[in-house]
Amino acid sequence: AFIRELSGLTTLEAKLEQMMDVEKVIIVAGDSDKETFVKQELGRAAVAFLKEIIKKDVTIAVTGGTTMASVANAMVPLNVKCLFVPARGGVGEKVENQANTIVAKMAKAEKGDYRLLHVPDPLSETLYQTIINEPSIAETLSYIKNASIVLHGIGEALAMAERRKTDDHIVEKLTSEKAVSEAFGYYFNREGEIVHKVRTIGIQLEDLASTDYVITVAGGKSKAQAIASFMKQRKNDVLITDEAAATEIVNQY
Ligand code: G3H
Repeated sequence: AFIRELSGLTTLEAKLEQMMDVEKVIIVAGDSDKETFVKQELGRAAVAFLKEIIKKDVTIAVTGGTTMASVANAMVPLNVKCLFVPARGGVGEKVENQANTIVAKMAKAEKGDYRLLHVPDPLSETLYQTIINEPSIAETLSYIKNASIVLHGIGEALAMAERRKTDDHIVEKLTSEKAVSEAFGYYFNREGEIVHKVRTIGIQLEDLASTDYVITVAGGKSKAQAIASFMKQRKNDVLITDEAAATEIVNQY
């Protein structure tokens, strides 16, 4: 704690909390764009925070991405009954970055339980209507909707669109509507307004209102604008980020 104060991270955290109207900001030193160990530190900070707040049995919904994968790498037993569920269906991403893989890994490390959601993402309208009525999927969905903790990443809009092999006409829309961030399959502009939404089953933005904690984990200087954008649309409970992203947000956004 002393080192953190000396290095100014505590001051930076207070500044961001005030600026973004976020209940709690936790900042780790460094830039996860440049050093992979910083992303691992983000993961460790997220697990330390979970340890602090979880006092009773809990369902935790988790998104995909490399940042969430580093949270899974840092997971330890939390000494309560934890159920991990993916926040949304699998995306066309590398398997190690998919929410299904991440929740299975978290549950193993935590000695908890998990449910998977084996559905394509994005979904066609017809498949969507059929799939939500499938009993096993409906059951998992009810766990997801009742999760009391949501743990998620944020991506830069165009980087995420490319990573998820998004159709050209959607990429054009994202560009013309000036999308800068993506989370939960929603794309936002710099004011935090929704400019596009992927049809997906799982957590929808309005579901976040009824959870105890929404924990956002995202770092790296390159994500500063994306973080600032997402934080504008919802006053999140907790942001776990790194020094490089935090400094850039304070200076630019
Ligand atoms: O929705 C956001 C992305 O899943 C973030 O992915 O952690 O690999 O940057 P990332």
